[in-house]
Amino acid sequence: MTEKGLADVIAAETKISDIDGKLGKLWYAGYSIDDLAENASFEEVLFLLQHIRLPSQRELDELIEQMIEYREAADFLAGLMPTLAEQTSPMSMLRTAVSAASAHDPDGWDNSTEAVYRKAIRITSVMPTLIASYDRHRRGLDVVESNPKLPHAANFLYLLSGEEPTQEAARAFDVQFILYADHTMNASTFTARVVASTLSDIHSAVVAAIAALKGPLHGGANELAMRMLEEIGSVDRAEQYVKDLFARGDKIMGFGHRVYRTVDDPRATILRRLSREMGETTGEPIWFEISEKVEQVVLAEKGLRPNVDFYAGSLLHYLGLPTDLFTPMFAAARSAGWTAHIREQYADNRIIRPDSDYIGPRDQVYVPVEQRAEEEAAAS
Ligand code: COA
Repeated sequence: MTEKGLADVIAAETKISDIDGKLGKLWYAGYSIDDLAENASFEEVLFLLQHIRLPSQRELDELIEQMIEYREAADFLAGLMPTLAEQTSPMSMLRTAVSAASAHDPDGWDNSTEAVYRKAIRITSVMPTLIASYDRHRRGLDVVESNPKLPHAANFLYLLSGEEPTQEAARAFDVQFILYADHTMNASTFTARVVASTLSDIHSAVVAAIAALKGPLHGGANELAMRMLEEIGSVDRAEQYVKDLFARGDKIMGFGHRVYRTVDDPRATILRRLSREMGETTGEPIWFEISEKVEQVVLAEKGLRPNVDFYAGSLLHYLGLPTDLFTPMFAAARSAGWTAHIREQYADNRIIRPDSDYIGPRDQVYVPVEQRAEEEAAAS
């Protein structure tokens, strides 16, 4: 008898990330998430996930240069964007645009290790450009050119608003990118590895991962968490709101986790602090204050703790992201981990093909449809 939802099933061996759900610890290639969030940049983390070691200064400079070059979207993609902005939701746009990017990748259908690595970096580099140009189009604004002086995350904020972010905002967003970059065998990463295991191409595997992330039980939770805070509107309404939600039997978004069950998700601990700080800086502490109250009530009522998506909601709001771009932003960061997992899968592949427990009827005998109709008529 299989555990529903494949809980506790080991689906792959990986060197990319590791979790201790009891201790509330997360490591990327052996480095604790607290250490990386405190000291590293997203670019270093991208290198770490791809190479299972930190880069030298020269390697980091090369990667940064490569990422700046790869930020530009192909003309073909830029041309698609007005239609996508008019016709699709942000995650559908991203799914479609990454799929379309495969047709215009300079490495074409080359699946050599080197070409796949370049594609991994291209996919990760271009995602913010796609998301921001989509947003600028739908708001009737001119698309902003990338600023090569800005790091990956800060440039994303710049592409959205046309203004250079403050150092504090840039760092908070960089940390958000780091925290979202990987998380072992979550649903979208597993999806990416399944697709890669058939030796399909890296773009297809990332497109499938985006599709998995889109759902509210996975990446969609950060957006829904923010919408809930807006619906609550004030700290004194939080308790009743949460109680009513549970009374209806609804799930609260941004809470609960398959792996962290009794301790805090370490990413939520970092994001709680950043959300508080950004709340103070922006002079809009209300979203943090409501979040904190919701957290207290949910813990008291259900014993559930916030996951990465809960405080990401208020933090991304403080950083000026439109709420419906929270999940695409998650995808942009997680592309670092997805592509690392896809490459790891290719490097030591066996097609992922689990088994199932059959629980349907047995020993049935086929009866032609005419005879079934006769039998039905006779019975009525
Ligand atoms: N709100 C209310 N109840 C919740 C809950 C939530 N957010 N998360 C878990 N629970 C309850 C479950 O209903 C279950 O109750 P039961 O034992 O009475 O049936 C119990 O807690 C155990 O949860 P379970 O369903 O086993 O969790 P899971 O491992 O299958 O699912 C999540 C994990 C993350 C999908 C789940 O917690 C969830 O849906 N959370 C909300 C969405 C979210 O924030 N997703 C982002 C994940 S990073």
